[in-house]
Amino acid sequence: MAPIIEVKDLTKRYGGLVAVNDVSFDVQEHEILSIIGPNGAGKSTIFKLISSFVKPTQGRVTFRGKIISGLAPHVVARKGVVRTFQETTIFKGLTARDSVIVAHHLRSHASLPGFYLGTALARRDEAEFGHSSDEILEFLGLGEVRNEIASNLPQGHLRALGIAVGLAADPQVLLLDEPLGALDAKLRQGMQLELKRIQREVGITFVYVTHDQEEALTMSDRLAVFNQGRIEQLGTPVEVYEQPASDFVAGFIGISNLLERDGRHITVRPEKVRLLASGESPPPGSHAEQGRIDEVVYLGMLTRYVVALDGGGQLTAVRQNLDGYAADVAGDRGTTVTVAWPDLQSVEITHDQEEQA
Ligand SMILES: Nc1ncnc2c1ncn2[C@@H]1O[C@H](COP(=O)(O)OP(=O)(O)O)[C@@H](O)[C@H]1O
Ligand SMILES: [Mg+2]
Repeated sequence: MAPIIEVKDLTKRYGGLVAVNDVSFDVQEHEILSIIGPNGAGKSTIFKLISSFVKPTQGRVTFRGKIISGLAPHVVARKGVVRTFQETTIFKGLTARDSVIVAHHLRSHASLPGFYLGTALARRDEAEFGHSSDEILEFLGLGEVRNEIASNLPQGHLRALGIAVGLAADPQVLLLDEPLGALDAKLRQGMQLELKRIQREVGITFVYVTHDQEEALTMSDRLAVFNQGRIEQLGTPVEVYEQPASDFVAGFIGISNLLERDGRHITVRPEKVRLLASGESPPPGSHAEQGRIDEVVYLGMLTRYVVALDGGGQLTAVRQNLDGYAADVAGDRGTTVTVAWPDLQSVEITHDQEEQA
């Protein structure tokens, strides 16, 4: 199937700084594609390039086969590529409900009007869009606060409203830049599932920017891991987690556990590593090593062990705290231990390190 968005050889320079460096990828219709990476990786710049808020230095973005880079952002938004707004001030004193109605009217948040014009527009379009706006607000759990002044709403509601405003613009592709960034963990987890549900039910495509690995794994059909303006790896959460293509990916998504063994550069995920009981022999088809437990961290659901290996390097292993297990772990620090993991779980990283330097 033809991609809904195609990013081709895209570069954005700010003076001598290369914010996005020759990046190409597709977004498929109806998927959630996440763009994840540390601060300064170029995530927001990619986002602004797709929504045409900045112009590329090189390369292009197409939407359903037509070039959109270079068009004015509100034109791109009208075509159906819409970004959610983060800035709280954009609502300029409008109620939550009026904000949604006005966003529908403008189909672009580039130019949400001030209070008086906004209110007038909302009254005018109330008959046309009032009902739908109530549905959208309801959908995002904002039914009760629809008549509150938007900028007075608490963070969680404000974030939800940013998304409601995006949806009101009737997008085919909704671009979300760290939409849940400021929320506390519990609220964020709830909203993540909510967003997935909305995306499924409305049947639109999401490009979702986040710096949070757990959020990316939760949200995405596929994720693109960015570092220094480039894509390090693009794949499904399972592919990226289980088969990291570089040290960077191995360390950014999950815990890296990088080891040099027999001239190979390998990584093994913590939950694949078992600490054997004394006298227990390693299961067939597994690789075993001796080490010393340096650190034991009790995390409730899990306990995390850091093991210094006699063969060099260290490994983090996690063990689920099943019945009766948690009580005796603290005593393990400093003891020698055999760790083992299935041979199949040694993932060799072949990515050329020099290339990234
Ligand atoms: N308007 C700008 N002018 C100059 N440099 C910028 C501008 N926008 C972003 N940058 C730089 O580009 C790099 C990527 O920024 P950004 O895309 O915002 O990263 P991220 O969203 O991943 O944190 C950073 O080094 C940032 O300082
Ligand atoms: Mg950013």
